[in-house]
Amino acid sequence: MPIDMDKTDVTEADTPGVPLLEVRDLHVEFRTREGAAKAVNGVSYTVDAGETLAVLGESGSGKSVTAQTIMGILDTPPGRITGGEILFRGEDMLTMSEERRRTIRGDKIAMIFQDALSALNPVLSVGYQLGEMFRVHRGMSRKDAKAKAVELMDRVRIPAAKERVNDFPHQFSGGMRQRIMIAMALALEPDVIIADEPTTALDVTVQAQVMDLLAELQRDFTMGLILITHDLGVVADVADKIAVMYAGRIVESAPVEELYKRPAHPYTKGLLDSIPRLDHKGKELYAIKGLPPSLMAIPGGCAFNPRCARARDICRTEVPPLADVTEPDGTPIGGRSSACHFWKETIHG
Ligand SMILES: Nc1ncnc2c1ncn2[C@@H]1O[C@H](COP(=O)(O)OP(=O)(O)OP(=O)(O)O)[C@@H](O)[C@H]1O
Ligand code: SF4
Ligand SMILES: [Mg+2]
Repeated sequence: MPIDMDKTDVTEADTPGVPLLEVRDLHVEFRTREGAAKAVNGVSYTVDAGETLAVLGESGSGKSVTAQTIMGILDTPPGRITGGEILFRGEDMLTMSEERRRTIRGDKIAMIFQDALSALNPVLSVGYQLGEMFRVHRGMSRKDAKAKAVELMDRVRIPAAKERVNDFPHQFSGGMRQRIMIAMALALEPDVIIADEPTTALDVTVQAQVMDLLAELQRDFTMGLILITHDLGVVADVADKIAVMYAGRIVESAPVEELYKRPAHPYTKGLLDSIPRLDHKGKELYAIKGLPPSLMAIPGGCAFNPRCARARDICRTEVPPLADVTEPDGTPIGGRSSACHFWKETIHG
């Protein structure tokens, strides 16, 4: 059940056809002494209320930088947004007034980081830090804010929340700390949560519990969830759709079952083939050959071409557009696109 919270601003309704959050052709680069590192090169994705979008891709593909740009926590300088839009309910956050932007980023979009220990303040109790959300953003009294903190700790299933509300972050286990981070993100009942590798730092068994909790809360609160991960196993259970990133671009997006069943991009296919599977026990695991490119020298044409077994001449000269994927007879497949010149061969063989 959603926690009863006082909202100080008007609740904005969804407009049919307008995504809750849309990143459109976003470009971000880092100016360094060696040159410009093009970390995000035209990323577009959307997430709606009640929907989970998983963003997948190897290390350095620009997943976190995109998230940081949405949240307004991009390291600037050296980071610089060089193009694109971030639309919240159709309104571009990059061009709106600073005040409006602060309201949206404070109230409507929250972020969960990988490392709870460094995201929480070590010298303040978790109850104080949770309560601060309500004192600062909702003008609650200290007593009411603490009661809300306990309520939230209960909601994320911290045992004996009432007794533990005055404990400090280091007194909790890694999994419990991550639950506290989730509680912090939930406090103001945001419309969108961005979770950047929220379980990577945890033990495998705890990972599943925390991920289940996050998925449950996302459903109960009908939030949009952007889940950044490089774990394809995690994604299958919780995501509705997937956006695969490579060298700062989305190379494929699709509903989750579709993408697993028949990938339409050689890079996605490589990622899927490299997941350990029970039925493949004993067989050598496939690994995509080569390494992701340097962001200072992204290959021309398709950035994946030096690693792609299907690459031909056009792949080295022309950037493949993110094109709609269809059935062989041209029937559209809802929500599918691929940035590969030869997506038809990849998906339909
Ligand atoms: N503050 C910064 N200064 C310079 N370069 C940066 C900075 N932050 C990120 N980058 C560069 O931007 C690129 C994209 O980084 P990003 O953190 O988005 O990758 P990622 O996809 O989240 O990878 P990972 O899976 O390892 O978290 C990387 O090459 C990184 O070195
Ligand atoms: S465009 Fe060419 S190089 Fe790129 S993924 Fe497709 S086949 Fe491979
Ligand atoms: Mg990252």
